[in-house]
Amino acid sequence: MSSINYAEKIPNNVDLQNDRTLQRALEHWQPHFLQWWHEMGPSDFEAADVYLRTAISVDAQGWAHYGTLKMPDYRWGIFLADALAERKIGFGDQMGQPVWQQVPGEYRSTLRRLIVTQGDTEPASVEQQRKLGHTCPSLYDLRNLFQINVEEGRHLWAMVYLLHAYFGRDGREEAEELLARHSGDANKPRILTTFNEPMTDWLSLFCFTYFTDRDGKYQLKSFAESAFDPLSRTCRFMLTEEAHHMFVGETGISRVVKRTLEVMKELGTDDPARIRAQGAIDLPTVQKYLSYWCSSSLDLFGSEISSNSAASFASGMKGRPDEQTYQDHVLREASMAIETPQGAETVPMLNALNEVMRESYLKDCEIGLKRWNRMIERAGHEFRLTLPSARFRRQIGPWAGQPVDTQGKRIAPDEYQRRLQDWIPSESDRAFVHSLMRRVIEPGKMAAWIAPPERGINNLAVDYGYVHLH
Ligand SMILES: [Fe+2]
Ligand SMILES: [Fe+2]
Repeated sequence: MSSINYAEKIPNNVDLQNDRTLQRALEHWQPHFLQWWHEMGPSDFEAADVYLRTAISVDAQGWAHYGTLKMPDYRWGIFLADALAERKIGFGDQMGQPVWQQVPGEYRSTLRRLIVTQGDTEPASVEQQRKLGHTCPSLYDLRNLFQINVEEGRHLWAMVYLLHAYFGRDGREEAEELLARHSGDANKPRILTTFNEPMTDWLSLFCFTYFTDRDGKYQLKSFAESAFDPLSRTCRFMLTEEAHHMFVGETGISRVVKRTLEVMKELGTDDPARIRAQGAIDLPTVQKYLSYWCSSSLDLFGSEISSNSAASFASGMKGRPDEQTYQDHVLREASMAIETPQGAETVPMLNALNEVMRESYLKDCEIGLKRWNRMIERAGHEFRLTLPSARFRRQIGPWAGQPVDTQGKRIAPDEYQRRLQDWIPSESDRAFVHSLMRRVIEPGKMAAWIAPPERGINNLAVDYGYVHLH
């Protein structure tokens, strides 16, 4: 088990106290991070007392330590999962060789780019969610939002640690840039499109945490396989925190669906106008939000055919999620058929790994859909929620900009333009959802558009005062 020196300014299990240069570099970065949190983190909630989980070690007891604190006092630490003895590279051309404890020179710039791209998403999501606290549907939800925010902050620390510890001056410059880009900024936007989308309502937050944090899970799982051992260990630990973010998404959407079904029953109708008049969100509108955030998140896996993915895999930098579940770990002989608008194309499997990842991601996304549809079915309704086709509304890859319906069928461009507002939230849908966003901060009370959760956090009651506002 790793031990942590709590006396340290930066809680860690990476023996920071014995690396003065690295410690000083991080101590120099820390006030910049806190300044960023102050300017770009949850607005107007710095004085709030929040019931939060803090990682104080990586073992089963220590990673989920609960207590009430103000967010700027959160102890953002650096934690790596315990090292596996004699760990060997599990895939690619160097399979079976010892993993790397340092960055091999020839992979330096690619690994740095991969780490920076992952690191960029963490503060980006905090910026996107910055104003949501003002319209929380309950204190329980407000606390969950803040929990996600502080943990995304810690994930930024995790990536900055790797940059500082293994990439020298370039890494330190990248760490500063991670605080200089901002979500939606016209001049210095975040790297990936999804992380520049505005997020101004809680239905979007739940879809984001369901779909986009799940992309995060898949990225972290593929880095957990990496031959660069410090990256693997960092990401393995991040995954334990990430699970809660997806939990917030899945249960959030469940609670919206549950509330809508209650209203449908009370009114004896599935007429969206009447459901809306009652202050709940009709299922077709929920579907549009799912289609919007799912299609946006699908682009995060990159192009269907990619030489970058081939190079990252062959070299050992980035594996497939759950690499051990596959038979072939080298993939020099394998190929895959990829559907493009020009027809099916057989490409070397190494070049199709983004698509392999996207497919397993979509399977994982189905789990929540099944649960929600069971609720709808049990309530006696025909309506079913679905995932859009992976070709729908893509901006990256062979289907980018193609007029395709949610089933993946190509249609005329003008039909696409005309029908798009039936598939993703229209201006008026967004205006309606926004009209529901009023904050509810009485302990245990819920906004009218969402059912209460089945249980509270860490065995506490649902009506516990999870946040004290001052
Ligand atoms: Fe994260
Ligand atoms: Fe996350």
